Amino acid sequence: MTIGLICAIPQELEALRSDLVEAHSEARAHARFVTGVLDGYDVVLAGSGMGKVNAAIVTTLLADRFGCRTIVFSGVAGGLDPELSIGDVVVADRIIQHDAGVLENEKIRTYQPGHAPIINETDRLGYPVDPGLLTRVRERLDGFEVPGHVVYGTVLTGDQYLNCDSTRAWLLAELGGQAIEMEGGAVAQVCEAFNIPWLVVRALSDLAGGNALFDFTAFVEQASATSATILRRLLPVL
Ligand code: ADE
Repeated sequence: MTIGLICAIPQELEALRSDLVEAHSEARAHARFVTGVLDGYDVVLAGSGMGKVNAAIVTTLLADRFGCRTIVFSGVAGGLDPELSIGDVVVADRIIQHDAGVLENEKIRTYQPGHAPIINETDRLGYPVDPGLLTRVRERLDGFEVPGHVVYGTVLTGDQYLNCDSTRAWLLAELGGQAIEMEGGAVAQVCEAFNIPWLVVRALSDLAGGNALFDFTAFVEQASATSATILRRLLPVL
């Protein structure tokens, strides 16, 4: 069985596409799926485009049409944890869709996707990574050197690029989290529906505050390459 790899934007995709061999490409929905071999492992690499719906379409196709055994997202994110810097890597051990929930008092009360208080309540918030996969990932990355630090933690997903200091502080106070991005929570939700393991690897291109769009432009290539390096290191345990 093959491994599904997803990137959202061309810079993330290019960091993996160039080393894929025996590549065969086909278009499905809005996306292109490249089947090939990366470092000796059978993979299907897809460029999803940005946002949760785009990521959900591609993840569904990788699971159902391409029969992937595991699906991994590799790319960039904005850093939330004040301990982290641009270039550091966050491997999600849990993902929360921060923009799903109840709108009240002009704010969102984040809630599990597919649920709402009173209507169909749940105690769950977010999606945990498969514990066995996480253990293998930690072992495999232990002592592995990349330009930034590698940490494990909560990643927030939403359909907004965060470029705002006050919203960043509010999200951090409400939900915590190490990084914010726009696809991982959808990958996790779809994989859970298909009962297959998922992983999200994100290198920080910016810190999601008021300079985030400028920093992104400067660091997106470097961060995409770091994330791709981590992903390739992980192929044997996926
Ligand atoms: N991906 C990279 N940086 C991001 C940010 N600041 N907000 C959302 N997604 C991102």
